[in-house]
Amino acid sequence: MNLPGAEEAKEAVRGATDIVQLIGEKVRLRRVGTRWSGLCPFHNEKTPSFTVNPERQIWHCFGCSKGGDVFAFLMETDKVTFPEALGILAERAGIELPKGERGPGAAVRDRLIQANALASDFFQASFRSEAGQKARDYLAGRGFAGPILDDFHVGWAPDQWDALATSLGKLLPAKTLEEAGLTIRRGDGSHYDRFRNRVIFPVETAPGKTAGFGARAIVPEDQPKYLNSSESAVFRKGSLLFGLPQARSAIRERKVILVAEGYLDVLRLHAAGFTNSVATCGTALTPEHARALARFEVEVVLVYDGDAAGVRAADRGLDPLLGAGLAVRVLLLPSGEDPDSFLAKSSRDAFATLLAVARDVPGFLAEATIGGGPAGTDPSLEARVRRFVGLLQRVEDPIRRRLLVRRGAEAFGLEEGVLLEAAAKGTPGAGLKSPRAARSGEGGPDRGAAKEPGAAPGAATAEGESGTPRSTVPAEKIDPAERELAARALTEEGALRAIVEAGGIACFATAELREILGPWIEAGQPPLGEERDRLIGEHPLVRGILAIHPVEDAVSLEEQQRTARGLIERLEERRLRAAIQILDRAIREAEQSRDTSLDRLVAERRDLASKLHQRSQSSVS
Ligand code: UTP
Ligand code: MN
Repeated sequence: MNLPGAEEAKEAVRGATDIVQLIGEKVRLRRVGTRWSGLCPFHNEKTPSFTVNPERQIWHCFGCSKGGDVFAFLMETDKVTFPEALGILAERAGIELPKGERGPGAAVRDRLIQANALASDFFQASFRSEAGQKARDYLAGRGFAGPILDDFHVGWAPDQWDALATSLGKLLPAKTLEEAGLTIRRGDGSHYDRFRNRVIFPVETAPGKTAGFGARAIVPEDQPKYLNSSESAVFRKGSLLFGLPQARSAIRERKVILVAEGYLDVLRLHAAGFTNSVATCGTALTPEHARALARFEVEVVLVYDGDAAGVRAADRGLDPLLGAGLAVRVLLLPSGEDPDSFLAKSSRDAFATLLAVARDVPGFLAEATIGGGPAGTDPSLEARVRRFVGLLQRVEDPIRRRLLVRRGAEAFGLEEGVLLEAAAKGTPGAGLKSPRAARSGEGGPDRGAAKEPGAAPGAATAEGESGTPRSTVPAEKIDPAERELAARALTEEGALRAIVEAGGIACFATAELREILGPWIEAGQPPLGEERDRLIGEHPLVRGILAIHPVEDAVSLEEQQRTARGLIERLEERRLRAAIQILDRAIREAEQSRDTSLDRLVAERRDLASKLHQRSQSSVS
């Protein structure tokens, strides 16, 4: 969208923003010649390698090599998108952006946000007023008082039909209040308040705009227990996370996000010091939520009730989260407890301990019992492994996938090769179901869950109509050593023997190669003559590989074996190195946040490093 004026507006905002002032609000800067320098806000350091260059209007960190302009800085610190950053800085500078730049509907959104902002002020004022005593008492009775209520802008909708309609009606057209879902129109054209006699939790976007409200009844007769703003251009439950603006800085510091289910869970977690907590607003986790979380590039821990519904909710959350490239762990509280009720009874240390031993994905799938139900409702081992394999296919990063396979093998007591092979074959990624649920076909999204678009991926192994695997990977994209090994496996008996000796199909990381070569490795023989011609005809990938690595005939069997072993070794070594690199990063992060997973990571690294060492020892001798 490059309407005339858009670029100019951006430049005007950039020009009107004092970069030193903006960054200086978040980083203590010291003048050094014509530049400014300070401790980088994006990584831990003791000596400043972060500099701001006001002449060129840019910033850069020599330590973590992040850098950019004022917009990039805001996107990085506040985790907002470019249009949001542009909007925030324009507002700061008092510049009006051209309408087109902000896309259609921006005017409507502005109107609703403004109505919500005024409503939020109104609710907070009523909370503090005399009439708000009821709300303060209710919250105090549940153990909530003090600054936490201010931080979350907690409010009160008075027990009247038109308190808000009357008060805000003086400032805004009745139609706007209705559009914002704050009032409801009667048949005679008059309006009454949507929220009455309820404690109000404003739901704010990352940049801190009020998108809508969650409202809790304070007497059991008032149903439903929670009433949310209706869906609108600004209140989209599928993408909003309650508590995000309050949690932002702690998430950056601790490199972990806790995701709970309820408004009061978030308040309780923050009050107990777990200020890196957010919650969905009464829906399941969606891919949109996952994308918003993924912007932080940190680990996500789902903190759910250990009852059957909680296990199911956690299980469902795994697809979008793994699909968005996030590392995930699951903390299941004792059955019947949510974070709020748990922390009301137990100490924060008890919670911290549970957090430290939160299960990773394989651990969760292998161990979670679906509490409460009669015996026989737990998913079988097979169902769990299949679920795991389905999830593996969502993980795009090959190294993370590889590490998950290793952990999965451990958790389920299976061989890595089996998991790899199953993942290569492709199993539909259905949720973790108890045998009964599977039979009755139950298990649609509960808690008003949003449907997730798109089927299981596994596109890499999708079958074409003729039953021929469709090629998805160009030969050039495959690791050269793996590619050459494949070429040799397709032609040389010696290479195939070496592969079988080294563990078979696990030598290949590329799903499509595993699929093509699997049967031949199992048979212990390369495809010869017609069979080979058929593969060449059917698979563009095979053609591509053989074009890059034409395999010369007439080499002795021993020599074929030796060459293949060399390639396998190189591959394994490279994978170990890559895994070590990932662990190094995780260790650095864990050290910085004094994360309790540090020991585990260090042990895993030691293990890999010693494997690598043995490898180089044996290849020298
Ligand atoms: P829960 O029913 O688990 O309630 O709903 P809770 O959070 O423990 O609430 P308290 O402790 O009784 O106050 C979890 C979340 O589901 C949504 C809300 O977002 C709530 O925080 N919900 C629940 C609704 O949207 N509507 C409801 O009627 C109930
Ligand atoms: Mn609760």
